[in-house]
Amino acid sequence: MPFQKLATESDLPPLDEAKEFSCGDKAICIANVNGAYSALDNVCPHRGGPLGQGMIDGGKVVCPWHGWAWDVKTGAATQDSRMKVAVYPLKIESGDIMVEI
Ligand code: FES
Repeated sequence: MPFQKLATESDLPPLDEAKEFSCGDKAICIANVNGAYSALDNVCPHRGGPLGQGMIDGGKVVCPWHGWAWDVKTGAATQDSRMKVAVYPLKIESGDIMVEI
C-alpha cells in the first residue's frame, strides 16, 4: 500500500503523548516520544484496548486498559516479547502526516 494522508502536522500529539486517528476502517495511534513520531495500530494486541488513549512511559506506549507497554519502534510488548503491535512507516511531507498501512 502506498503512503496515505492521515492528518496534518498540526494534529500531531504533544511531546510524550499519544493520540488516536482514524484511517478508513482502521484506527492508528501516533506516539510522540522525545519529539520522534511513530505510527502503531491503535488496537492493543492484548485485549483490544485503545493505545492512542494511553500514556508514554520510557519510550513505550502504555495501554490504558491493563498497562501493557509497547515499544514504538519494534512493536514488542514488555510483558510478553512474543506479542507485537504493528508499527507502520510514517513520514511528514508538506505539513501532512503520511502513513503506509
Ligand atoms: S488491552 Fe491493552 S493491556 Fe490489555
